[in-house]
Amino acid sequence: MGTAVERFDDKARELFDGLGQNRVYEGELLRHRVYTRFLHWMVALWFFLALFSGFGIYLPWLFRWFTPIFGGGALSRSLHPWFGVAFVFFFGLQMLNWIKLMKWTQADTNWMRNLRNVVSGEEKLEPPDTGFFNAGQKAQFWEIVGGCVVYLITGIVLWAGAPVFGRIAVAISYVLHDLSALVMLGGIFIHIYLSTIGEPGTLQAMIRGGVSEAWAWTFHPAWFQQVTGRDPRKAYEDALRRIRAGENRS
Ligand code: HEM
Repeated sequence: MGTAVERFDDKARELFDGLGQNRVYEGELLRHRVYTRFLHWMVALWFFLALFSGFGIYLPWLFRWFTPIFGGGALSRSLHPWFGVAFVFFFGLQMLNWIKLMKWTQADTNWMRNLRNVVSGEEKLEPPDTGFFNAGQKAQFWEIVGGCVVYLITGIVLWAGAPVFGRIAVAISYVLHDLSALVMLGGIFIHIYLSTIGEPGTLQAMIRGGVSEAWAWTFHPAWFQQVTGRDPRKAYEDALRRIRAGENRS
């Protein structure tokens, strides 16, 4: 099973590398290839379409102004489940693409225990055993996987409605569906903040594929060590020395 997924994923990566470009400049590392980036932006597109069409159904008195974008209230209601299905479909492919990197390890449990130091910014580099994804990213990934399962089950109940599943199942599904959307939305706000302003240099990984070495040794030191064979702490201190030497000369 594992190898079939890997074979499928490898084929897709090769195919997409032929269709698009990974742009990685000197002093940078390749982080996300074309296929991963394509899936991520498909996930984001269908997520926001499902979210905005869902808002109009969830709180029509507040979000009525969203519905004309989708051709009115009735059309919003008909399109929303299809946007949701597309979101779950692309996230399913993204899950296969990332599942190996998202495996929880002891390093992730340590990262969570150390969260206060990481967030306070006292320590400039993430803990040395932080790999390709950190524990926060993995936690969010698994939250989205769980959310997709909830959307799928409750979404089918809501789609078919009370005549098929009964009123109680529909009422419970409404609550779970909306709760899942609110939890995911909260996580996505944090995700967008961290991927743009919070951790500068991250967004380009999802635009053209490359990140600076400094970004890699700062946020994912174990991954930096794995791909370059260099010690991230030493690379950071050498860079600091070079900057200070440059400042003293000028
Ligand atoms: C405009 C909105 C978004 C931006 C700017 C954005 C940006 C990014 C970037 C730059 C990364 C790469 C992080 C890294 O390599 O360390 C990433 C990863 C990821 N994105 Fe997004 N993203 C957006 C929307 C979404 C949405 C809507 C979802 C799912 C509902 C999503 C799910 C993920 C996941 C699961 C990852 C991998 C783990 C992580 O970095 O958190 N993203 N995103």
